[in-house]
Amino acid sequence: MSGESPRVEVMHGVNLDQLGRRDPLLYGTLTLAELEARIEREAAALGLRTRFFHTNHEGEFIEHLHRLRNGADALLLNPGAWTHYAWAIRDALEIAALPAVEVHLSDVQHREAWRRVSVIGELCFATVSGRGPDGYGEALALLCDELGRGSP
Ligand code: DQA
Repeated sequence: MSGESPRVEVMHGVNLDQLGRRDPLLYGTLTLAELEARIEREAAALGLRTRFFHTNHEGEFIEHLHRLRNGADALLLNPGAWTHYAWAIRDALEIAALPAVEVHLSDVQHREAWRRVSVIGELCFATVSGRGPDGYGEALALLCDELGRGSP
């Protein structure tokens, strides 16, 4: 990492582009663009730079992880349903070898049993789930601490 602000790659997986149309009781009412604007603001307040990526295609998600070498200092990711079964994403995350936080808008531990499994959890130093959009801010603060920047 240089003396500049750390770069956080924020990666959204399958169906996250449909926020605003999905069940508001689970996922809130913000669109993905609104959520990203909020994340960018909160990151800037913590002295972090953000870059965003979304795809509905698992291979593109994986290739983006491959490309991150030297492109990011940390990762904040919500892979959507891939979280629960996409072992190839787990392996690509291992290759990326970056400090990572897993985020879910809904409380995946208290929904269907299949959502309690996370194939990426063991590679993330923290998981934030069930906190809605606030969870992203909490994840950024955790990343800040992990990167040795502390919260201002
Ligand atoms: C989600 C939870 C997943 O189980 C679900 O498939 C999603 C969104 C969340 O943010 O709560 O698409 O990752």
